[in-house]
Amino acid sequence: MEVQSVILAAGQGVRMRSKTPKILHPLLGRPMIDYALSAAEKVSHTTPIMIIGHGAEAVRQTIGDRARYSLQEQQLGTAHAVQQAVPFLLDGPALVLVTYGDMPLLTAETLQRLIQTQQQHAGPITMLTVHLDDPHGFGRVIRSPEGHVQAIIEEAQASPAQLEIRELNVGVYCFAKDWLLSALPLVPLSPKGEYYLTDLVGLAVSQGKSVAALALTDLQEAIGINNRIHLAEAAVLLRRRINQQWMLNGVTLEDPDSILIEPHVHIGQDSIICANTHLRGTTSIGEDCVIGPNTIIEDSQIGNRCRVFASVLEQAILEDDVDVGPFSHLRKGAHCAQCVHIGNFGEIKQSYLGPHTKMGHFSYIGDATIGANVNIGCGTITCNYDGTKKNRTEIGDDVFLGSDTMLVAPVQIGKGARTGAGAVVTHNIPQNALAYGVPARIKTESCG
Ligand code: UD1
Ligand code: CA
Repeated sequence: MEVQSVILAAGQGVRMRSKTPKILHPLLGRPMIDYALSAAEKVSHTTPIMIIGHGAEAVRQTIGDRARYSLQEQQLGTAHAVQQAVPFLLDGPALVLVTYGDMPLLTAETLQRLIQTQQQHAGPITMLTVHLDDPHGFGRVIRSPEGHVQAIIEEAQASPAQLEIRELNVGVYCFAKDWLLSALPLVPLSPKGEYYLTDLVGLAVSQGKSVAALALTDLQEAIGINNRIHLAEAAVLLRRRINQQWMLNGVTLEDPDSILIEPHVHIGQDSIICANTHLRGTTSIGEDCVIGPNTIIEDSQIGNRCRVFASVLEQAILEDDVDVGPFSHLRKGAHCAQCVHIGNFGEIKQSYLGPHTKMGHFSYIGDATIGANVNIGCGTITCNYDGTKKNRTEIGDDVFLGSDTMLVAPVQIGKGARTGAGAVVTHNIPQNALAYGVPARIKTESCG
């Protein structure tokens, strides 16, 4: 049987005390809702339906066409929220999965087990439950003496004896659609003025139908985010889950609790990630690399056998066998070909450095194209900005730039040319020529 899913996400999340809608708060570099949405996508046969309310416009903009939206203008309860999805449900698949936008730890595997349980079950509902020592905030699962699920009682309505129950409602369900459509209009208004989805359980039982319950094996999956303490706790657990997966996949993590790897990062086998390293965004790391300690890499592509030590890389590309650091900063568009060496205190932006080029100490290279086997002497700088616009520097293969060379762009340095220490290069240098002094004069010679 095919599945459609409904994600409830209209609530305000007052306890976040934030201008940002709760479900858009970042969690390991992604908006919180991304986790529930990704899990739903994996088990659904149609685009998930999202019930939005508070911050609806911002949610739509962030999620785009990954969801179909229904606006719940007033939050009149979880059953009322599902009611908003009905126009979409009518023509859709026969099973309806209901989840929350603020439960980022719930996995697609668990949702799949819930769906399978419902597929093998004659009644109209399978609900997800959890056994917790601290039941605070959860609806209690009421069972008959024979052990059949009878009802869910919300905490506010529960008797002292019911409050002792530790089998709890996670809030995630798989419904037979036809029954759901017939039952939603029958949900009564609660004493608190809301329509509770949980009332469907008692309703089904009163109709002589059975309700199945699937218990979570990993209790962490039940965590819902209501405030920023939960957000931080969820981040720790998600991070640990991701880190463990990489270790099982053949990546060594030194001091994993200090390492943050965002969900869309990829790491090759036998790479070693050292302490205090953050790998963010769409970063991919090849095989046999050593990354860190104290390194941040965001949206960058790193080849095989690279070494990045105590440095920051953003939207950079390192081909194979590149080493960087300590204390270097590769910014957007930095591209180091194979075997490039970047030592300490280097900054590179929008520049290509050809194979085997070396930039050992204290350099800034911006808006430059640099050939192979170039030696960039200590303190060399591209003066790429003239106060109004950025200008390019082009450097041929086998160039030797003496220490503290200033390359005043736009400027071209021919293949095999050399500069003397402290040269301020304001004009192009022909191939194999030597430039020295301030401003640099050119001496044509064979570098033979
Ligand atoms: C609900 C369950 C409770 C369960 C708990 C688990 C009901 C009546 N109770 O309680 O049994 O143990 O979840 O966390 O369902 N939402 C809307 N529109 C609304 C109301 C809620 O979209 O009108 C969304 C919220 O954004 C949230 C989710 O539904 O993502 C749950 O709502 P919430 O108010 O947190 O329900 P609980 O009181 O926690
Ligand atoms: Ca809640």
